[in-house]
Amino acid sequence: MDVGRIEEGEWNELQRNLVATIPFYDRINRFATLGQVSKWRRMVREMLPEGRVLEIGCGPGSFAEDVKGGELICLDPIPEMLGAAETRVNAKRSQHGDSPAKFVEGTAENLPFENDSFDAICSLFSFRDWYDKRAGLTESLRVLKPGGSIVIVDPAKMNRVHGLLGLFWMRVWVGSYARLVCGQRDHPWKWLTKTYAGFGTTKDYVRMLDDVGFEGTKAKVVFPGMATIWSARAPS
Ligand SMILES: C[S@@+](CC[C@H](N)C(=O)[O-])C[C@H]1O[C@@H](n2cnc3c(N)ncnc32)[C@H](O)[C@@H]1O
Repeated sequence: MDVGRIEEGEWNELQRNLVATIPFYDRINRFATLGQVSKWRRMVREMLPEGRVLEIGCGPGSFAEDVKGGELICLDPIPEMLGAAETRVNAKRSQHGDSPAKFVEGTAENLPFENDSFDAICSLFSFRDWYDKRAGLTESLRVLKPGGSIVIVDPAKMNRVHGLLGLFWMRVWVGSYARLVCGQRDHPWKWLTKTYAGFGTTKDYVRMLDDVGFEGTKAKVVFPGMATIWSARAPS
């Protein structure tokens, strides 16, 4: 199994399924994580410096809507995700008196930004969907300013046995609820189970961050099998 890549056909199918998650996204996410997801999002927000921040794979804006201050740019390959996020995120930013966020269509593997242009990059529950993780991290490093930080959250396995338990959780617990909420047997969360199965261990991505040239890489398992937070810096 290559924990760094998703085949093109599979990725296109995954993206089609992600569009179908939009109406149910937050509800099923809360259930799947036993309500812990808001705590993890808050932890990431607290790790971000003030300045120009890029969220890669913003989805419907579940994280971005609570990022306060600074300059926020949200990137996603799915126009429907960007549309949902823009309404939600900019309504909150205007309540807080913050400048509107910008919404950009694109992928991590080919970031449409100049070199050295962000103080921080974050990616929550999206890294596991990147079709070429090494290329996405290399691009992230290119667009980060020297000393800029990257923070990633996703459900890594601790080891292969642990991965089987996680798969059981996703298939049975999350799968049954998703079937009920979406009202269909063939619900889009089946695809999220697939990406979970193909995702590697916490250590795999510590190594990958180091290999592409990040420094000071740290990984914290905040909930085994459901959330690891990786953080690292671009060399100064
Ligand atoms: C599960 S959603 C995560 C949404 C949000 N960040 C959150 O905190 O819940 C994953 C998002 O990653 C996006 N994505 C998938 N592949 C990507 C890639 N190669 N580059 C950037 N984003 C990608 C998907 O379109 C989707 O909107």
